[in-house]
Amino acid sequence: MKRFISSLLLGLLVIASATSFTACQNAEKNAPHDKAAAPEATEAPAATPTEAPEEDNAEALAKKEAEETARKEAQAIYEKNCQSCHAMAPPSPNAPSIIALAGQYRARYSKRAGAVADMASFIKEPAVGKSILGTSTLERFGLMAPLSLPDEELEKVAGWLWDQYDPEFEGDADCR
Ligand code: HEC
Repeated sequence: MKRFISSLLLGLLVIASATSFTACQNAEKNAPHDKAAAPEATEAPAATPTEAPEEDNAEALAKKEAEETARKEAQAIYEKNCQSCHAMAPPSPNAPSIIALAGQYRARYSKRAGAVADMASFIKEPAVGKSILGTSTLERFGLMAPLSLPDEELEKVAGWLWDQYDPEFEGDADCR
């Protein structure tokens, strides 16, 4: 009986790992370090109006506005330089969609900073050895052409891409 249960458990384990093994998640082993699944914890929520003194509210509001300005700025960099190839969500016929890419980075990196640094380096000088994508995805689209943007813009747009993560998204086999 004990033996039966353990083989049953083993069977379930095999099924579970097989189902999560889609080509999109099957990025190659040649990817950069820092491979951890957990997305970063979200930032602590801003103080609520009822509890916080007025200066704190003003500070929180200013911070929120600054974040929103930065987000818009990064979005504009994307629209100008990336959107022609990368659609936000599938269908994205020329390159993996932004949402699919964000999912790939979140699955591979535990820290935003590490992901942003490697992403910026890739965009500047794409190479198969730097790619976090699977061979089938790279073959389908071909390697991205290098983009010369100021480092500051690269970092902004890479951070913005990381932030586009949508836990509900389940990409298809080609990460489109
Ligand atoms: C001319 C088309 C084109 C443009 C413009 C473009 N990309 Fe790409 N990008 C691709 C293709 C194709 C791939 C998939 C193959 C690959 O990864 O090299 C890709 C892959 C990527 C990847 C995944 C890298 C990896 O690990 O393989 C990132 C991140 C990325 N692009 C970000 C950007 C950002 C940000 C911009 C704008 C600043 C941009 N791309 C502009 C075509 C483009």
